Formats: sequence, C-alpha cells, structure tokens
Amino acid sequence: MRRGNILALVGIGMVAGGLAAAVALLLPWFPDVASKERERIDFVFWFTIWICVVIFALVAAVLTYSVWRFRAAPDDDSDGPPIHGHTGLEIVWTLIPTALVTSIGIVSAIVLSQNAALGKNVLHVNVTAQQFAWSFSYPEAKNLTSGTLRLPIHRSVLLTLHAKDVIHSFWVPEFGQKQDTVPGITTTLHITPNRLGTYPVICTELCGLGHALMRSRAEVMPAQQFLSWAKGQQKQLGGPAGSSGKAVFTANGCDSCHTFTPAGANKKIGPDLDNLRQEAQRAGQPLEQFIRKSIVDPNAYVEPGFTKGLMPTSFSSLPKAQLDALVSYLAGGAKK
Ligand code: CUA
Repeated sequence: MRRGNILALVGIGMVAGGLAAAVALLLPWFPDVASKERERIDFVFWFTIWICVVIFALVAAVLTYSVWRFRAAPDDDSDGPPIHGHTGLEIVWTLIPTALVTSIGIVSAIVLSQNAALGKNVLHVNVTAQQFAWSFSYPEAKNLTSGTLRLPIHRSVLLTLHAKDVIHSFWVPEFGQKQDTVPGITTTLHITPNRLGTYPVICTELCGLGHALMRSRAEVMPAQQFLSWAKGQQKQLGGPAGSSGKAVFTANGCDSCHTFTPAGANKKIGPDLDNLRQEAQRAGQPLEQFIRKSIVDPNAYVEPGFTKGLMPTSFSSLPKAQLDALVSYLAGGAKK
C-alpha cells in the first residue's frame, strides 16, 4: 500500500472518530449522577462507548476508502476477482471482538459485585408500592413512614421493596438502578447517595390507569439533617407512628393524587378533598360515612369527571384505628 493511501485511511478514520466522539461528549445523554453505584455504571457505559467509537472509526475509514478507491468505472461490466477469504484477517477480526466483549463482561461483573457490596452502618428502608403511590418506612426509627424517600448522604442504604397489589418498578434516574416490586416477593436495592438534592422516584412498570402519575421524590440530605428530621417526625406523630390522621394520609400516598389543603396536598388526579362536603351531598350520604365508604369501596360512588377504577381498592385493608383517624382527619379538614 502506498503512503498516500494509508494517510487517506487514517484521515477518514480520524474524521469519523471525531464525529462519533463529539456526539458522545456534546449531547447531554444522562441525568445528574447522585450515587456511587451510578458512577460505576456510567464507567461501564463509557468504557463500552469508547470501544464503539474506535471500531466505528475503523470500519467507516475502510468502508469509505474502499467505496471511493475501488469503485467501478462507468463502462466496466466485468466481474470482480474471485477471492476465497483470508485466514489471517479472519483470525484477527474474530480475536479482537472476542477480547473486547470479554473485557466488557469482566468490567461489568466487577461493577455488579462492587455495587452489591454493602458499606458499614447500613440504613434500612422498606419501600411499599401500591396503585399509585410509594411509601417509605424506616425500621430503625420505629417504622416512621413517609411519602418522600429521605436519605442521608454518603451512607449505604438498603431498600427492601414490596408491592401490595400488582408489579411496580422503583427507579430514581440519578441513582442509576431499577428494581421491580412484585407481590409476594421481596426484592432489594443498594444505593449510596453521594450528591445532595431532590430527585424523582418513578414507577417504570405499567401498573394501571395511574401508572404515569405514580411518582414521588427522593431527598438526599446531610446526615445530621436526616437525623433531626427523623426525630422531629417521631415526636410530631406522638406515640406509635401512623396513629394521626395526617400521618396515615401521607404514609399511604393520598397526597400523590389528591388536593387537601390541611395536608399541603395539591394533586389533581383524584377528586379535590377540600370539597368533600359537596361530594358527599352529591352522593347523598352523611359526610363521615361517605368518606369511609369512598376509602374502602371507592367504586361504589365515583365523582363525576373521574374514572372508575382509578382509586386503588387496597385501602380496604387499612387497620381500623388508622382508618378511623384518617376519616376524622378528612372530615375535620373539609371546607364548610
Ligand atoms: Cu406503579 Cu407503574
């Protein structure tokens, strides 16, 4: 091969590789990174991407060069020379991909095992998914329950996930991992948050009418702030967690679908609970009886303008004390 040809090949390869690298580097492909596990996963991603960029440059160079250099003249109708393979070349293009794919496999295996390894002083959080809300409880803080996932920064967190009704899937893009929640099966997910901030918790398994709206927040806070939040919440609830109506309201994710001013809830997926009085009138029932019935048997009366079946029926299993507290909390807070 002449020197000029080699220069042309290298030139085309550099242009193709440069374009591919620019696409990889200049476009914002990823959300922010907020966990150690995500950092490692991203490392595997970039490891793979750079291999692909190099291979792409190589193939694009040879292909472009061949199309241009060996094109047939307009009046050339003759056949090409009969070629029966090239053992040397075939060995090379088998060995190189084998080595590359194997190296990606090894890097992935290392990352998987590092991501699964729990740190010291693990914080356990129980995650409960139900149509269409998330709730998070902290066994170390007397099962303190919250509709928002609050986590201290730089601490190993082990999520234990449950589903009450159908399959859901837990995903915080900034943490970089997904985990299904399956009725009857306990799944786990290990996260080490390393960036302060508030990130979305998203359900990524089609789970019913409200699937797209099944969202919450993950808040990564300084360790000290996390401890004082947990203490403050326990005090505010007074006694066993979950006995106050407001606690039941947020713990069961009512605020992820409804508006209810006393609880600071402002969602519009379900009926506005500030107007419970008018709704009870329309249903022709006394207020408290209407509220109780609507929680345990939501399809008995459906407010005009809302879809039957949107409100989950799983709340019929609420313990009686919690149900009573919730009913009187809602009745007390409804507008006159
Ligand atoms: Cu829960 Cu989709």
